[in-house]
Amino acid sequence: MKLAVVNCSQVVTLAGPARPRVGAEMREVGLVAPGALLIEGTRIERTGTTDEILSLADADLKSGRDCEVVDAGGRVVLPGFVDAHTHPVFAGTRVAEFEERIKGATYQEIAARGGGIQSTVNQTRAASVDQLVTTGKRYAAWFLRGGTTTVEAKSGYGLSLEDEIKMLRAIRRLDTETALRYVPTFLGAHTVPVEYRNRRNDYVSLVIEEMLPQIAQEKLAEYCDVFCEENVFTADESCRILSAARCHGLGLRIHADQLSLGGGAKLAAELGTITADHLEHTDAEGIAALKTAGVQPVLLPGSVYALGSTHYPAARAMIDAGLAVVLATDFNPGSSPTPAMLTILSLAATHLKMTPAEAISAATINAAYSLNRGARLGSLEPGKIADFVIHDCADYRELAYFFGVNHAWQVYCGGDRISS
Ligand code: NIG
Ligand code: FE
Repeated sequence: MKLAVVNCSQVVTLAGPARPRVGAEMREVGLVAPGALLIEGTRIERTGTTDEILSLADADLKSGRDCEVVDAGGRVVLPGFVDAHTHPVFAGTRVAEFEERIKGATYQEIAARGGGIQSTVNQTRAASVDQLVTTGKRYAAWFLRGGTTTVEAKSGYGLSLEDEIKMLRAIRRLDTETALRYVPTFLGAHTVPVEYRNRRNDYVSLVIEEMLPQIAQEKLAEYCDVFCEENVFTADESCRILSAARCHGLGLRIHADQLSLGGGAKLAAELGTITADHLEHTDAEGIAALKTAGVQPVLLPGSVYALGSTHYPAARAMIDAGLAVVLATDFNPGSSPTPAMLTILSLAATHLKMTPAEAISAATINAAYSLNRGARLGSLEPGKIADFVIHDCADYRELAYFFGVNHAWQVYCGGDRISS
């Protein structure tokens, strides 16, 4: 079965070299304008003009093969967003803390008295896998509706062997039971749970000696992440955990320099992690180290915004240094309660000073490479998986310009239209 999407004002293909985009390449989005797209089964066959694609569709129809034609009505087509940093499985919300922060309490103060991540841990431990899958499906629908077709999904609200495995099993079920694609990450080192606060070293040992081996053996995660931050995990503890994860064959990611300059970026460079995420406080030296080590920065302006901060990461310096920048939502119930990549594009433009083209490269092809999916996802090139979105605008720059609007009009995963 073929599918022809014709009459697009722009097909934003992101076609280019088979590697993440850096520097000026981030401004090359591979426009076919006006254009059309041909899909064969679950894969992209080619892009071209509407006339070219319609004549191929005609040839198919004449030889008795089925071909559905979709008229995009002068709209823009983009690859589905790849959201490379999310925490999409959790129970409950933190709306009460949200109100406290409005009144002046800080994220760190709330965490220090046993709220914050620990409060979501308490609620998540009390939930069954089925309950986590049910709420997870609600959030999956939000992602898809907003034009996101792949998410990286972290555990980290269980913080016991049993509860971390429960979260990763929920993620695995969400991957099979929804149209959204999930890439699982083990984040057992998200915070030291209350019962270990006086013996934190025992918790680090639990992560290294019990959680990692079992999770790796059951292949429940592709990546391991650590929250490296003052009063959370030190650079030394993060290093021990990530080094152990590497021995188990997991790829490495790290929450680095989010609330303070704590050596996270430097550690990422030393270990050669795949990504270093947040980086709000990373300095020029850290940026240079990431460049030398080829680490991809994952920038999360939604969390800066939602924490009421103005301390955004130095995206321009990172792009100018030649880093393959990624943008993601950081969807979670505490610091970034948004699944909307379109909102992230707007924040990237206004606060990170990224052009719409740079932001789109960061949210698609670069994100796909950061998840080892670059050969299959993140661009509309022949042979790639047909995850694409028709956005209700005529120029892709409107995606970052008209904010607070859900431009995503029709969403396709693997060539199938997702009904919302
Ligand atoms: O990326 N920084 C650590 N983890 C999340 C917050 C998680 C939470 O507050 O529940 C983040 O911002
Ligand atoms: Fe996070």
